[in-house]
Amino acid sequence: MIVVSSANGIVGIREAVAILRAGGSALDAVEAATRLVEAFPDDHTVGYGGYPNLLGEVELDASIMDGRTLRAGAVGALKGYKHPISIARKVMEELPHVLLVGEGAARFAAEMGFEQENLLTEAAATVYQQGLSGALPEDQRAWLNVGISGNLARLARITADPERASGTVNFIAQDGDGNIASAVSTSGWAWKYPGRVGDSPIIGAGNYADNRYGACGCTGWGELAIRCSTAHSVVLYQRMGFGLEQACRQAMSDLAAAADTTTMNLVAINRDGRPIGMTTVPGRTFVWMTPEMEGPVEEPRVVVDLTTSK
Ligand code: GLY
Repeated sequence: MIVVSSANGIVGIREAVAILRAGGSALDAVEAATRLVEAFPDDHTVGYGGYPNLLGEVELDASIMDGRTLRAGAVGALKGYKHPISIARKVMEELPHVLLVGEGAARFAAEMGFEQENLLTEAAATVYQQGLSGALPEDQRAWLNVGISGNLARLARITADPERASGTVNFIAQDGDGNIASAVSTSGWAWKYPGRVGDSPIIGAGNYADNRYGACGCTGWGELAIRCSTAHSVVLYQRMGFGLEQACRQAMSDLAAAADTTTMNLVAINRDGRPIGMTTVPGRTFVWMTPEMEGPVEEPRVVVDLTTSK
């Protein structure tokens, strides 16, 4: 048994391990842990307190995958609900679908009895104001209000800030029955174009789990993970016989073919529950914990240099 997460999962990993210790499922463990990060206002890249889109609205993406059945549920561009991971799980359990977005996702959340809340904290709103005007040269700031009411595309190209989204949370757990589940939740790029959906709710891009081979969750520049199917690649390369580290290196190297390669991070396990974290940015860490341990360990991620992989 094990739980692995991105570094910001430290807020929830003990809860996930407690669930496994008590005989709970990997699915319950990753959902409960993700909810704690989603409720944590100081994490500005996930859930409540997340940085908003270009219009100042917090829009959330999340997905959950059951490695035993390959069933999955996801929501994208969801406004007004603090726990997209639980709504994603309901999509998996209650609908013949995998992914709901926008108004449909909000409607489904209300039908399932989730409560609507304001997710924009004062701290996030202040950084939003500064972020937008800070990204524009002084002589163009007056244009900001015109941009907000008119051509958002131009504004998004100048102000959208993927680096503020690198804290997206990943959890992967393997329970006492050997079942693997994975969960990913994010508020996405800060100041993104409204309706932008990243890799987190795209099964195969930011999240994938398969009991037979392992699981992977991504953080970083979601557009890249979508274009290269990064999470599924990690699992597929293991299926093809690669060891865990080699599979992750190969999936990361695949990103180098993209002309605009940038930040990518992943956490993964193999089917034996061995964990790894990998990144393109030196200094990043991930955390993992087993039920035998008193607390989580934080380890450096293996760094890959994509400029030499092209
Ligand atoms: N990886 C999170 C995002 O790009 O939305």
